[in-house]
Amino acid sequence: MTNTKSHFTTLMARIAEANAAYHTHDAPIMTDADYDALRREAAELLEKHPEYAQAAAPLEEVGAAPASGFKKLRHATPMLSLDNTFDAQEFTDFCARIRRFLGLDDTPLEFVAEPKIDGLSISLTYENQTFAHAATRGDGTEGEDVTQNILTIKSIPTTLPKTAPQKIEIRGEIYLTKQDFLALNDSQEEKKFANPRNAAAGSLRQLDATITATRPLKLFAYAQGESSSPVAKTHWEYLQTLKSWGFSVNPYSELILESAAESFQTKIGEERGKLPYDIDGVVYKLNDLALQSRLGFAGRAPRWATAWKFPAERAVTILEAIDIQVGRTGALTPRARLTPVNVGGVIVQHATLHNEDEISRKDIRIGDTVELQRAGDVIPQILRVIKHADKATPFVFPQNCPVCGSLAVRDGEDVVRRCTGGLICDAQIVERLIHFCSRRAFDIEGCGDKTVQEFFSAGLLKSAPDIFKLPSHEEEIAQREGWGKLSAANLTAAIRARQKIPLARFIFALGIRRIGENNAKLLARHYTTYPNWRENMQAATTIGSEAREELGAISGIGPTIATDLAAFFSEPHNLQTLDALEQHLTIQDAETPTASNSPLAGKTIVFTGTLTMARPEAKARAEQLGAKVTESVSKKTDFVVIGADAGSKAAKAAELGLTTLTEQQFRDLAGL
Ligand code: IVH
Repeated sequence: MTNTKSHFTTLMARIAEANAAYHTHDAPIMTDADYDALRREAAELLEKHPEYAQAAAPLEEVGAAPASGFKKLRHATPMLSLDNTFDAQEFTDFCARIRRFLGLDDTPLEFVAEPKIDGLSISLTYENQTFAHAATRGDGTEGEDVTQNILTIKSIPTTLPKTAPQKIEIRGEIYLTKQDFLALNDSQEEKKFANPRNAAAGSLRQLDATITATRPLKLFAYAQGESSSPVAKTHWEYLQTLKSWGFSVNPYSELILESAAESFQTKIGEERGKLPYDIDGVVYKLNDLALQSRLGFAGRAPRWATAWKFPAERAVTILEAIDIQVGRTGALTPRARLTPVNVGGVIVQHATLHNEDEISRKDIRIGDTVELQRAGDVIPQILRVIKHADKATPFVFPQNCPVCGSLAVRDGEDVVRRCTGGLICDAQIVERLIHFCSRRAFDIEGCGDKTVQEFFSAGLLKSAPDIFKLPSHEEEIAQREGWGKLSAANLTAAIRARQKIPLARFIFALGIRRIGENNAKLLARHYTTYPNWRENMQAATTIGSEAREELGAISGIGPTIATDLAAFFSEPHNLQTLDALEQHLTIQDAETPTASNSPLAGKTIVFTGTLTMARPEAKARAEQLGAKVTESVSKKTDFVVIGADAGSKAAKAAELGLTTLTEQQFRDLAGL
């Protein structure tokens, strides 16, 4: 290989890493300027040596997930994440929530405590006792097919004993030891990976599995996915079974009572430095699997487990500047630009400053020496000022939007100052577009932050409907710097692939204030179809209307969010945007999971009075069966479940002649 060619290969590797870090792990490993410089250098080389084109794939991944070359695999049950706990009080609260949900007395709960490895999660499916396929977590619903890569990890069993279920999915964490991570980085010409987790992810997600084969990846198995028959009654028993099947299970895992969690935390914290791999806390999982399944999930995390994180790592550095960023709802967010500093193994150059009150409370000034902390994945924070810079003056928060110049105001008690520029503020427009295309919304591959910004500046994108017109500009896009025929065609394909979208994602993508993923799901489930949702939202703009009352009564929505939705639908421009989007899209009806076979599917239920089953569980059960739970009784209510000492809601049900159920009748209908 010539020198130039090998330099080109190195550049490609760097760019591929940066793409992966930025788009897939949300953890950039270099500044935008450095990234752009790399790309420029590579593009120049490519111009002189067109024969390198075959090796130039990373250049084509403009804004795309680098693993787009992998086939997607849908998870049989979603792969979720964990809620965090940071101290003993929060752990106690977590236990209390479990008790309240299940209506348990104070018998101590039993947990399995497992070190939380900093790697990447994996799902391994076995059929007929033989390894069939493997997928990364991806967005939780769909991951990448890394079967070939997993086959290179010798310590993962490829067959299971005859006693194993006919079909079973085993989940765990792929990781690199600290030593292997350091050795890997040493063997690269340049230090490529910021931390072992990044290195493990980068090593597994190689389109060329022979590269994965050279990386000493390991697995700890720790969770269940789908299974054709039950393996165990407790999580502890499940782990022992996995061990007997030849999987490695973390040897520090222990079965403990809730009262022992704090001392376990301390003990592992002390051993942490001696462990061969990085851990960032301990995962506590309720041992009883029947209780786990009753608890189920809330949003993206199980109610039966928590990750108790170790205290954060700290460091001292200089605050060079305070940048003000403008979000999609106009919020002005201050961000600290720092002299880069190593905080527990990760180079940090930005920190969040939350809001203007935080800056004045801590009296943070430009040039100050500050102490910062980094905990797990969260954005580093500035803890305090250690020393003011000479002659520094208190920071004055801007009263105008730094992007469009409109007045920025604070609403009543709100700590956030917002740009009033709305539709004319470029920053808000761009952020809304970025949100619209993002992974949890339309999930348009190749349409990340930079691409959206680029197309906006070029006048190709002004509002969301324009995204679906991009395919008609494919040739023009192919001509753009940094693009090419292939990447433009990929973008067209990615956009076309997303013209069919589930209602909940669509609602979330609109970026309405306070309508995050969870609320979008609640709305989708309640209104089921797009036309029905839209019609009801427009009717709900009238205060006091039946539609407005219904909206505010949806459990989890409430009057404040109803007001935000009404505000969105009162704006003619938003209605025009919806009209235009409808031209391009097929919006799929919300799935009601067990709709067909449950008598509760699609029904609207109100619970009132005291039930023996705890209220949160009753509500969650009803929702699992496709029911909509609301807080107030109306003509539209199908069932009112009446517990002891019910008051006005029971009276109203009688007055409206609604069907009322006793708790037992509800249990029977729900099949409990
Ligand atoms: S259980 C629904 N157990 O931490 C339960 N996760 O912050 C899902 N992780 O995505 C995971 N060690 O990648 C579990 N012993 C452990 C773990 C563990 C590390 C990772 C995993 C997960 C993330 C959540």
